[in-house]
Amino acid sequence: METQTQTSPRPDYGIDAPGVVRNLFIGGSVAVLVWAVAFSGLLPRSEWTRFFVRNGSAMAIVCLGMGSYMYLSAKYGKIREREWLLDLKPGGWRGDETVLDVGCGLGVMLIGAAKRLSTGTATGIDIWQTQDLSGNNPDAARENARREGVADRVTILTADMRKIPFPDSHFDVVVSNAAIHNVYKADERATALREIARVLKPGGACILADVRHEAQYTSVLRAAGVTDVQRRDTSITSPLFALVSLGNVRFFVLIGRKPPASS
Ligand SMILES: C[S@@+](CC[C@H](N)C(=O)[O-])C[C@H]1O[C@@H](n2cnc3c(N)ncnc32)[C@H](O)[C@@H]1O
Repeated sequence: METQTQTSPRPDYGIDAPGVVRNLFIGGSVAVLVWAVAFSGLLPRSEWTRFFVRNGSAMAIVCLGMGSYMYLSAKYGKIREREWLLDLKPGGWRGDETVLDVGCGLGVMLIGAAKRLSTGTATGIDIWQTQDLSGNNPDAARENARREGVADRVTILTADMRKIPFPDSHFDVVVSNAAIHNVYKADERATALREIARVLKPGGACILADVRHEAQYTSVLRAAGVTDVQRRDTSITSPLFALVSLGNVRFFVLIGRKPPASS
């Protein structure tokens, strides 16, 4: 008798900042081309030609290297990264937590958290900006939850992190990955962070990973009652990324704890 094994297709968690990745590949390819033409002596001698002969290959390596890193880490590194982030939860996972993922996108953190739950629930909110994440939409996030076998524990909502549609002290855990910096105005980012603090239960924890504005996140969270905020180091590629992005991208993770009600 012939047996057939049916496996669910793999989830697709998208590529972060797809426009940036595309521009890095275009910029890198143009730099290779200009460097090759300048190097071969086909261009008239000028300051620009000399500049490209000296720097064109380095520019190409930086652009293509960053573009490839962003593409490959999004395509193949997201699940490993989420597991590392979720392992940082203070006290470990009990399985009955209520979890909120702020700016959940296609659900990588949300679904990872849901996999650690037995009786708990995981909710993701997002406004589905496709410039921040390729293929970003709530149905695709729900499909990923189905593919990872946790659709029964996951709720996905359209909502803005500046106005989280839940009462105070509602969640045991709030997670967010690479999302809050997408709110460009500082005062609106502060509003989003205060919303995170507001919906967190006393004794609850947040795990916030991002690429910019670490000092602001720390001070706003502390002022909003998440008094114990600690930084965790990320991978060794972080200083390298900070260097080649001229300080624009500085990966960091903050673990925040709201004191229990009695203290
Ligand atoms: C780079 S993606 C990261 C998605 C997901 N957290 C992940 O790790 O794959 C940033 C996400 O933040 C969402 N976002 C941006 N501004 C938002 C806002 N004001 N409220 C809720 N989500 C927002 C975007 O739509 C996008 O899904």
